[in-house]
Parts: sequence; C-alpha cells; structure tokens
Amino acid sequence: MEHYIVKGGTHLCGEVEIAGAKNAALAILAAAILTDEPVTIENVPDVSDIRVLAQAIESIGARVEHPGRHVYRIDGAGVHDLPVDNELIRKIRGSYYMIGALLGRYKHAEVALPGGCTIGLRPIDQHIKGFKALGAAVTFKPPGRVEATAKNLRGTHIYMDMVSVGATINVMLAACLAKGITVIENAAKEPHVVDLANFLNSMGARIKGAGTDVVRINGVERLHGTEYAIIPDQIEAGTFMFAAAATHGDVTVTNIIPKHMESISAKLKEIGCDVEESDDAIRVVATHRLMPNNVKTLPYPGFPTDMQPQATVLLGLSSGTSIVTEGIFESRFKYVDELTRMGARITVEGKTAIIDGVASYFGASLKAPDLRAGAALVIAALAADGISEIYDIHYIERGYEDFPEKLRGLGGEIVKVSTPEEGEQAVRRMQMSIVGGTGMTERGTA
Ligand code: EPZ
Repeated sequence: MEHYIVKGGTHLCGEVEIAGAKNAALAILAAAILTDEPVTIENVPDVSDIRVLAQAIESIGARVEHPGRHVYRIDGAGVHDLPVDNELIRKIRGSYYMIGALLGRYKHAEVALPGGCTIGLRPIDQHIKGFKALGAAVTFKPPGRVEATAKNLRGTHIYMDMVSVGATINVMLAACLAKGITVIENAAKEPHVVDLANFLNSMGARIKGAGTDVVRINGVERLHGTEYAIIPDQIEAGTFMFAAAATHGDVTVTNIIPKHMESISAKLKEIGCDVEESDDAIRVVATHRLMPNNVKTLPYPGFPTDMQPQATVLLGLSSGTSIVTEGIFESRFKYVDELTRMGARITVEGKTAIIDGVASYFGASLKAPDLRAGAALVIAALAADGISEIYDIHYIERGYEDFPEKLRGLGGEIVKVSTPEEGEQAVRRMQMSIVGGTGMTERGTA
C-alpha cells in the first residue's frame, strides 16, 4: 500500500546531489566476481535493483559486505556455480550480467531469465549470439533459465545486429578472460559501457574503444582486486532537470558529468529553459512558458529512451504541438493513459506520441507502470494543480534513491505513506493548504 501523495504547484528550487549510476553499478557489481580477490565499489546507489543483485551474488557463495550506504566490498573467492535463481532475481534486468560474468570466470552459468520494466519484448538474442561466438553452448531450461557452458572461450569478431547496452556489456564480461582478441562491432556507447570498461581495466583487463562503436578486448589470464567509484547517474540527473523545467523552477544538479547530459541539456534549451554548465553541475532555470519540440530517442549520444516519459510530461505543458518518437523499445507509452487522466492531450500511434500542450495538469490518482514512467508521473504531479496519489512506487524505488526526500529538499510537496490512514491524513493536511478544493479526479480517495 506504500504510495506517494504529491501536492503540485511549487516551483522546485535549490541543489540536488545525484547518486551513482544504477545501470553502471549493476554491470560492475556482477563484474566483481570475475576475480577471486576483494573488490571495493564506491558511489553505488542505494536502490532496490542493486540490493537484489547483491543478494544474488551472495547466494552463489561470494562474500558481499556493505560497509557504507554507497559502498560494497565483494570477494568472489567462494563463488560456486550454483544456478542463480530466486524469486527476486527474475524481476531485475541486471540479472543477465551474471551470465556473462560466470561464463567468463567459470565457463559455466545458469541464470533465471531476466525481468525488468515491461517496456517491450526485450529479447536477449544478441547476448546469446555473442556467447556462442565466444565458443559457449547456450540452452534454455524450463522454467525460464539460461545455461551457458564452454570448455574454453576464445576471442572472436561479433557484429551486433542492433545497438544493445546489455549485449555489449555481457560480451565484454565474458570476453575479458577469453583466449585472444574479441572485437565487438556496432557496440553500445553509453557512459555505463565506458564505466564498466574502466572498472575491468582497473582489474587488469585490456579493453580499448569503449565509448566508440568498436570495442576491442584482449583476453588476459586473470583479473585482480580493485577499488573503484561508479559514475553519476545520467538519468537521475536528467529527471531532476526536467522536473525543474516542468515546475518553472531553478534547480542545480550536482556531482554529475555534464558531457553525459548533452542531449538532455540541448533539449531543455530548445524548449526554452536556461541551462548553465559548470565542471560537475548543471543549473536549469525555467521562467517562460515551455515551447513545443520534437524528440526521438536513440542510442547514446542520442536522447535517452530512459528520459522519454519525462520528455512527454514536459512537452505536454508546452505552448503547441510536439511529437515524441520512441526509437529503442516497442512499447514505452503505457503511462500516457495516466497522464491523460491529469488533463494531458496526447495521442499515441505506434511508437509515436502526438502531444497538444495544455496550460496545466490537474491532480489525480495514478499508477506507476514502470521505473522511468513512474518518475515522470511524479514530475507531472509536482507540476499539476491539486493533489495526486501515485501507487506502485516500488517501480520508482528500483532506480531512484531517496526520490521524495530529494524532491522535498527542492521544496516539492511529496510524502511517502504506508497505509490508507496515513494517506488520508497527508491528503487532508495538503488540502487544508489549498484554497478552493483538491483538484482530484474520480479515482482519488480524498
Ligand atoms: C538497458 O537495457 C538499460 N537497463 C535500460 O534501462 C535502458 O532503457 C536500455 O539499456 C537502453 O538504454 C540496464 O542497463 C539494466 P538494450 P537493455 O539491450 O540492456 C533490443 C532503466 O529505466 N534487443 O540496449 O535491456 C531491445 O529489445 C532501464 O533504467 C534485442 O532485440 O537494453 C531494445 O529494443 C529500462 N536483442 C534494443 O535492442 C537483444 O539481444 C535496446 O536494448 C538485446 C536487445
């Protein structure tokens, strides 16, 4: 029953510190078992997907210590190749990195098929193609497990049929202890691919070209322990930048790498925001009505698919017609029905959303359909007139650390409640501070 209660209408203002990148941390935690020596990983975000993966790593015999909120120490010496499978691991996408890591280190992996956000079919054929090219036999075992086995892995040349972050990372994990050179063509260039390569190189791997579309991995005999700090989360930063714009606020995101934010900053400028960059921070100021724009999601350095719902929410408040096209996943507009209930005017045709901007949204009772769409609905609620309730927040907690607390630090009125009674009290408190009613729609409980 945990849910958020949000009162819209406050301009978000102030500074917010961005956590480590969830999607880099998932790959790097899995990669830690490629060595029998201890590995210390810092700047790990405290989000539920990471906790689940850490638990899975521990379940196969690795020693996992968590000496600080953002620090993990993993010692893979005790790992044995038991199947990686529990109720939780099936829910997270990052579980598939255990296939590449176990196959690379032990030449055998048996892992439950990955779950993750329901944003399309999400096949793993390119991962399998890569493992097979390296010399592994791959089989699917009921109920929903992948087994990969090899006598030896040998370097090879792999051309990815599409740009896939997961497949690029998984092949890198499997190939760094293979014999000879592996070349991945049409590789993903996302910052977390580069972060994983830097981490593996700090363990003694020889990887070149990460961040370009050709990654070259020179196999080594063994990897050693290391200490490493994860890069900041590009998508968490982008989410706060878009929240600043939607609420006509003035927000500085700190502890970021501005280079990673280029497509997001550029879009905000086109929409009419002022964006100021410094060494490790970006300030977004929105004073005028937002202008319409077109967005197409693409692999990095294009506009990220993980910012697509936030972009739709923002353009839904602009002064004209915008088009948002999803270029990565087949079904990532499930949140539009919820947004429509807040007064947005959006029509979805296949992978395209046609958006007629409205002057404002109104509060509603909403359900988060997945992680990023959930965060986008929170932004819509913060920008709306009235009070909203947002359910299924476990999706949001998969990838955003302290989301309500950070928003409150910027002046946002959002609380997390655990029971219907707590929810009613919070709504009443917020109602008392609104003149002229709640603005809630039918599904609201107030
Ligand atoms: C990663 O997913 C991220 N997840 C996603 O973040 C992100 O949306 C996505 O990359 C794109 O940037 C993690 O890092 C854990 P892909 P992934 O392989 O690796 C197709 C979030 O909100 N494809 O790059 O699963 C696939 O269906 C999440 O944090 C194949 O057809 O994405 C998609 O259309 C959601 N066959 C496209 O490629 C394959 O074998 C890109 O997927 C692999 C992928």
